[in-house]
Amino acid sequence: MEEQLDFHRDTWVEIDLDAIEENITMLKKFMNDETEIIAIVKANGYGHGDAQVAKTALEAGATRLAVAFMDEALSLRNNRIEAPILVLGASRPKDAHLAAKYNITLTVFQLEWLQAAQSYLHKTDKLFVHLKIDSGMGRIGIRKKEELNKIEAFLKKDNRFVLEGVFTHFATADEFDPTYLNRQLNRFLQFVRELKAKPRCIHCSNSAATLRFPRLNFNAVRFGIAMYGLSPSQEMINELPFSLKEAFSLQTKLVHIKKVKKGDKISYGATYEAEEETWIGTLPIGYADGWIRKLSGQEVLIDGIRVPIVGRICMDQCMIKLPNYFPVGTNVTLIGSQNKETISINEIAAKLETINYEIPCMISSRVPRIYKRDGQIIDIRNPVLFR
Ligand SMILES: Cc1ncc(COP(=O)(O)O)c(C=O)c1O
Repeated sequence: MEEQLDFHRDTWVEIDLDAIEENITMLKKFMNDETEIIAIVKANGYGHGDAQVAKTALEAGATRLAVAFMDEALSLRNNRIEAPILVLGASRPKDAHLAAKYNITLTVFQLEWLQAAQSYLHKTDKLFVHLKIDSGMGRIGIRKKEELNKIEAFLKKDNRFVLEGVFTHFATADEFDPTYLNRQLNRFLQFVRELKAKPRCIHCSNSAATLRFPRLNFNAVRFGIAMYGLSPSQEMINELPFSLKEAFSLQTKLVHIKKVKKGDKISYGATYEAEEETWIGTLPIGYADGWIRKLSGQEVLIDGIRVPIVGRICMDQCMIKLPNYFPVGTNVTLIGSQNKETISINEIAAKLETINYEIPCMISSRVPRIYKRDGQIIDIRNPVLFR
């Protein structure tokens, strides 16, 4: 990295915004209709960076954004993003006015919530809301038609509330067996039919459903993991209707190298012992960066070859076993490609026995993010410097 870059450590995440753009463009071609794309940028854009991903997705044709919490929506507004934003999770009634003020759409599913929120709304406020139906996810949402009827009647009486949408969320869209998804869909349809006036936005599909069952799109889809270039599940990898491009890579550099003798030990607990004379390199990344201790033994790329992490991963550093000498400053890729070798997010997820969603989310804010367009750096975010 050049000196002018706005951070001072040799570990960084690189986000290829062209990949985000391409994934949205491919989705638009695949859907080939007027379905709106709601780009899901919660959790700081799945760890990629919410504002940068949001701007790219909107440029590529998404028309709306969604986040989990109010603070995430406000952060997007602070970044001068004006597109409609839906908060998917529960908000506090006392934040109803703030939501209206910043044109943030809230998810609602409790009559009591609406009654409480009403008292916080100012006279001229307009609060856009989407009703959440719990069709089988069991998380948040309306579960009984009587509740829906009461909520619809309540909303009708106070024109400061604008009922713009109704939605549900599938629990198993990424699994082969569609039985449970169909059950959820039927339940959702019953609720939609129950509404006296149909809201403008009806949506139920996450990435998996969008890519597998276009007939369920209604008039909007909520596109998350696939926008970042990741398959919603291992099962779906060979079933994707178009190829996805991973946007996230994790890079570091060798900061130290030494030759150790047979029997020398490495890192906390002295758990790794060199079996022969061995080159050991040190990388400036550790579990405080989200590169957790369970990744000991995971391979990384140096000069296009795979080498293992040896010994325990420390808070800020870890060690790798090298086949020969490399100069300090040599690039090391933890996630991403070098020459013909690739370490994908899916490989790290498999090593940690988890889903790919978790991997970019867990790389902590201590790791600066740099953003690339056409191979050029266009933005750098270093949350540590701006705390
Ligand atoms: C309510 C809701 N909709 C949509 C999404 C996006 O799902 P995906 O990332 O699988 O596309 C999520 C993600 O968890 C969600 O909670």
